Amino acid sequence: TPATLRELGNLHGIPLYKSFVEGWPQVEAFQARPDDLLISTYPKSGTTWLSEILDMIYQDGDVEKCRRDAIFNRVPFLEMKAPQIPSGVEQLEKTPSPRLVKTHLPVHLLPSSFWDKNCKVIYMARNPKDVVISYYYFYQMAKMHPDPGTLAEFLETFMAGKVAYGSWYEHVQGWWEKKHEKQLLYLFYEDMKKDPRQEVQKILRFLGKEVAEGTVERILHHTSFQEMKKNPAANYETMPTTLMDHSLSPFLRKGISGDWKNHFTVAQNERFDQHYQKHMAGSDLSFQMEA
Ligand code: PPS
Repeated sequence: TPATLRELGNLHGIPLYKSFVEGWPQVEAFQARPDDLLISTYPKSGTTWLSEILDMIYQDGDVEKCRRDAIFNRVPFLEMKAPQIPSGVEQLEKTPSPRLVKTHLPVHLLPSSFWDKNCKVIYMARNPKDVVISYYYFYQMAKMHPDPGTLAEFLETFMAGKVAYGSWYEHVQGWWEKKHEKQLLYLFYEDMKKDPRQEVQKILRFLGKEVAEGTVERILHHTSFQEMKKNPAANYETMPTTLMDHSLSPFLRKGISGDWKNHFTVAQNERFDQHYQKHMAGSDLSFQMEA
């Protein structure tokens, strides 16, 4: 992909892929349905994991049904727009209810229809040190991104909010503030790693859904990192290689908490901590940097 096409555009002040910015009028006018469930995350925070869990819940733990299509088709990506493939909005219009909808939009840019229809939302947040490392590998394997440069450079870009979808700090805090007003369940990747059963139970309660104990077992097994990594319907390997090059880094890369320790220098960690404290000051939102 030529470098000029990889440069990020600007969506109301948020750095974003140019093709997504071009598709924005359709996204802004998107008509949500009251029974849509929105899966909202900052990139690299466990979107695919949460999506697979929710599809399993929606399919009553039927593993075969969850292999019917790739995760990016089972849970369409609202603001996605790329040449030669249907946009997220086009995919969603063809999806029968009840729909699962993926977005990475910051809360203030979410199409108003989701609020008007009072849709349920599940937000998942992940600690920023693991997010930035995961994002660094993703920038390399997913071709729509600019060259991330060295990790040292990418850390600065991330802290400055100049990566796709902008500031992690504003994203997690913006959605956290909505939690008090909305039908919103706010989850953490680190909690899901530590006790997936408890988090799946939280989701079931939030959805008002009861399932048999064996179904919970099947959901936990099917959505484990090892199972998802070898599942072509969950691991993104069916994406065209022009969009994602899994030989540079697999989409399901490590799936752990605390991998940043294998990448940050002591000095980088101190700088990151200082920046984190400054930008999270006054918020009652806090993160576990490992699970
Ligand atoms: S995206 O592109 O923003 O939608 O990516 P997203 O799915 O949010 O994040 C990808 C990271 O989530 C990890 N992942 C998992 N971790 C644990 N268990 C399961 N089942 C799982 N599935 C996906 C994936 O490996 C990416 O994290 P890293 O740290 O890069 O491994």
